[in-house]
Amino acid sequence: MSNEPVLKCIDLKKNFKSQSGSGELQILRGIDLEIKLGEVVAIEGSSGSGKSTLLHILGGLDRPTSGDVIWDGQSIYSHDADHLAELRNKHVGFVFQFHHLLPEFTAIENVMMPALIRGVSQSEAKKRAAELLTFFGMEEREYHRPSQLSGGEQQRVSMARALTNRPSIILADEPTGNLDEKNTEVILNLLFELRDLENLSVILITHEKEIAGKCDTLYSLQNGVLI
Ligand SMILES: Nc1ncnc2c1ncn2[C@@H]1O[C@H](COP(=O)(O)OP(=O)(O)OP(=O)(O)O)[C@@H](O)[C@H]1O
Ligand SMILES: [Mg+2]
Repeated sequence: MSNEPVLKCIDLKKNFKSQSGSGELQILRGIDLEIKLGEVVAIEGSSGSGKSTLLHILGGLDRPTSGDVIWDGQSIYSHDADHLAELRNKHVGFVFQFHHLLPEFTAIENVMMPALIRGVSQSEAKKRAAELLTFFGMEEREYHRPSQLSGGEQQRVSMARALTNRPSIILADEPTGNLDEKNTEVILNLLFELRDLENLSVILITHEKEIAGKCDTLYSLQNGVLI
């Protein structure tokens, strides 16, 4: 494990306008966080505490009110929107609670998509996607559409898709939130195995204490700060 953080944020603050008049909701009140290569960090917190908001900001999908996000030593706000999107596609893999797979595409097409967007050839993208689907035990389901897959299978496809471009970090927002115990365990074990295989860093948002306990570092988001 190298000491150079893969992702870091400095004094992140995020306010949202409250619907009732001129008030401001202070959701994040000064978040400092560093994730090293190969580290798996869990963040727990009650509903509405700002976990998804934080994850979106760390992944460059949303902007903080103030503070900085640094990937591999560089502020993400030093890039224009197009360049940031390009960097995100390469550097970060997202796994959402509800998989967000494209319904009209097959499993393998969904997994190939980030590579195709990046300009990788069809054949190379397909090779990587097939490898990943095999890793996730989905080799017999390559040509299934999301609606023809179980919830756990959809989530495995969505993890495979997050890994297509060999990101250095996976940001996972309750990836097992709607799965049963057995599927949760399968998905998590695969995630830990991948961390070892591909030297990935992972930020995992979870409500489940048992999952959080398996991670290298555990934070709790309370009143806008990490504890
Ligand atoms: N675009 C927005 N505009 C206004 N308020 C927002 C917006 N996005 C989030 N919020 C508010 O910020 C707070 C944190 O939301 P967030 O989705 O980050 O919570 P969370 O910790 O992920 O909760 P959950 O565990 O339920 O997913 C909520 O109170 C929400 O109402
Ligand atoms: Mg959330």
